[in-house]
Amino acid sequence: MLKVEKVSSHVVRPLRHKVLRPNLPLEASIMPTDDQHDSAHFMVKKSGNILCVASIYYESFEAMPVKRAMRLRGMATEAAEIGKGYGTMVLNGVIQYLKMETDTEILWCNARVTAFGFYEKMGFTIVGKEFAIPNLGPHKTGYFKL
Ligand SMILES: CC(C)(COP(=O)(O)OP(=O)(O)OC[C@H]1O[C@@H](n2cnc3c(N)ncnc32)[C@H](O)[C@@H]1OP(=O)(O)O)[C@@H](O)C(=O)NCCC(=O)NCCS
Repeated sequence: MLKVEKVSSHVVRPLRHKVLRPNLPLEASIMPTDDQHDSAHFMVKKSGNILCVASIYYESFEAMPVKRAMRLRGMATEAAEIGKGYGTMVLNGVIQYLKMETDTEILWCNARVTAFGFYEKMGFTIVGKEFAIPNLGPHKTGYFKL
């Protein structure tokens, strides 16, 4: 049975780069706060292959100030494995971790327009105006109340 594992940043980086920033150098996939004590990284793997990754970082949510918000970044499923439920598994693992191990109230993200459907299915609310992130295209903000 597959399970979501909490791992170090260097474990999630290769898939994060391959899926989300393939046209940029590998360094573009290193987040400055990757190794901060309250950051965390998650993945699911099958037969030794990492299929989906996601990371969370302590970062306030301007649209709805709360005591503690975490930001979801680097949510990525291996291209050939999209639509098989691995994204759901990993994001549910993140939510479970935040509920059990932290007092986080909001999980938020800047979601790619192409991923709105996924986040909405997972219970996120997409809010505000669309904005462009250089090299990465149009986004909107999404949040999930824990
Ligand atoms: C977004 C992403 C992480 C979802 O992961 P996944 O492993 O495909 O997710 P799942 O298979 O668990 O999909 C869960 C549900 O969301 C739906 N879904 C997934 N991606 C979707 C999308 N882009 N638009 C609409 N619905 C989507 C699936 O159809 C599925 O619905 P179902 O349960 O009715 O079948 C994955 O598509 C991906 O890596 N995309 C490219 C990178 C990206 O855009 N990442 C997000 C950056 S903000």
